Amino acid sequence: MEICQTIDSFRAVLAEARRTGRTIGLVPTMGNLHAGHASLIDRAAADGHFVAVTIFVNPTQFGPGEDFARYPRTPTEDLELCRGHGAAAVFMPTVDEMYGEKGVTTVSVASLTGGLCGRSRPGHFDGVCTVVAKLFNIAGPEAAYFGQKDAQQCAVIARMIADLNFPIRMVICPTVREADGLALSSRNRYLSPAERQQAPQLYAALKLAASMVPQGTTDANRLAAAIADHLARLAPLGKIEYVEIVNPHSLSPVQQVDRPVLAALAVRFDSARLIDNMRVEPEPSGG
Ligand code: PAJ
Repeated sequence: MEICQTIDSFRAVLAEARRTGRTIGLVPTMGNLHAGHASLIDRAAADGHFVAVTIFVNPTQFGPGEDFARYPRTPTEDLELCRGHGAAAVFMPTVDEMYGEKGVTTVSVASLTGGLCGRSRPGHFDGVCTVVAKLFNIAGPEAAYFGQKDAQQCAVIARMIADLNFPIRMVICPTVREADGLALSSRNRYLSPAERQQAPQLYAALKLAASMVPQGTTDANRLAAAIADHLARLAPLGKIEYVEIVNPHSLSPVQQVDRPVLAALAVRFDSARLIDNMRVEPEPSGG
């Protein structure tokens, strides 16, 4: 496995792989890798690509009061995980290597970034899109792998790929969860024991809403209210930031579950802000 710290050396490794007929599968991450990230690497490898993982805690996607400085950095363990899952190259640049000349160009996907997480994290998705666009241009992958866990990020990047004509196939992989349903996240380690005990209720609340649809509740407001009520009762240490039922592509609110929708939520515990989401399908009509 090649480990590259500079853009030039990473490009050279990928150019060599291409010379031998390989296609590149890119897995962008911020490190502190867990089984969720591993599932993206596995999928890229299973698709037959030369798998390139990037590990970069991107400062431009963190807001002023956010956890950039204390974001967990575990390079030794990360490299071990990459090696164990068949990554062929890992790119771990410094902030200076990525942003040295103080870029003034920002990629901004309007309209998809104002709601959901964008409401409480202004500028976050500009930071994400800018660094992902840079990584796309650095690596020139045939395919890029992202997790459904970050549903808004997926919708925004899909739109950026389409609007800017990146010749890249985006592959969205299912959310990997703990046995109790909590979506794996690098931020779970911040949770206190009591918060950790309540955190699986995010997924339980989403499942509850999904189960109400076949029983005839298709009104989005009622589903959102059921989720909020479940969280208020069973995860009282968390403060609900949003619970929304939206179109999975446009992210605009829907009134009725008459086609596949996305139920998405964010809950702020004292020590960490957690997000989760679930696709909710309408009952097949007719029979
Ligand atoms: P990071 O949070 O490290 O996540 C990297 C990728 O792993 C993302 O596509 C994310 O959706 C996916 N992922 C995280 N937890 C997952 C889980 N439990 N199941 C499945 N996939 C999961 O997302 C970022 O980094 C950054 O914003 C990035 C895209 C790298 C840009 O800086």
